Amino acid sequence: MKMSAMSEHVGIEVSDVDLAAMSDADLAAIKDAVFQHGVVAVRDQAISPQQHIAFANRWGGIDINNYFPVNGEFAEIAEVRKAENQTTNIGGGWHTDHSYDQVPAMGSILVARELPPSGGDTLFASMGAAYDSLSDGLKATLETLKAVHSADHVYRADGYYAQTDMAADLRGHDQVTRAVHPVVIRHPVTGRKVLYVNGAFTLHFEGWTREESMPLLNYLVSVGARAEFACRLHWQPGTVAIWDNRSTWHLAMNDYHGHKRVMHRITLSGVPLAA
Ligand code: SIN
Repeated sequence: MKMSAMSEHVGIEVSDVDLAAMSDADLAAIKDAVFQHGVVAVRDQAISPQQHIAFANRWGGIDINNYFPVNGEFAEIAEVRKAENQTTNIGGGWHTDHSYDQVPAMGSILVARELPPSGGDTLFASMGAAYDSLSDGLKATLETLKAVHSADHVYRADGYYAQTDMAADLRGHDQVTRAVHPVVIRHPVTGRKVLYVNGAFTLHFEGWTREESMPLLNYLVSVGARAEFACRLHWQPGTVAIWDNRSTWHLAMNDYHGHKRVMHRITLSGVPLAA
């Protein structure tokens, strides 16, 4: 198995390994790379949906996504797809998956199934590096705060996607989500301090109004989105990405109108988050 860094702060590219027949030692090395570097991109995989599920089960439990189109055959697999005639994509803003859950997902495993001829890359950003870049004063303030997360404004019947041409593909309009997490968490495996707010699902700081929260939230989102903390994954047929939702954000580029893109995602169960 070969590994190489994708950028200074986030991302490891892996080749010469078969995820579907991986030794325990290689899996331990991949897990370590995900926890230390946020995302691993494994190239040249021929992984069936059944093998995708079996590989996910080696990480622990699977969290079923309540909103994305489901794969017809496999309830564990959510489809992140955009058709030739759609202009909206799924995941087109910086976010981390399922931060609106009381126990947010540990990570996600995304398999490229159909790619556009060009475009459709995914950006990943290190929230450990973003946190480290803040002043001691702001760090100290953030460490006293919790934030409220929800997906309702994104997926409900009058939410963001309802106004778009992705509306008919999405489900879960009646789901009600609300979770409160520390703004700075200790990564459950590495112990690193990580900024845990995101532009898509964080509504406000606990005990603050939305109006009061937005200037600071917008600032934190602008820091997390700085190019210096990010890497760019250019998908190829056979690429599988595995990422840590606690320590990274990601953003799916929407620059391939007129072409289809289909990805299979399994979301991995996590643990409660603590400061
Ligand atoms: C997602 O947000 O999980 C989708 C990422 C992608 O489609 O690249």
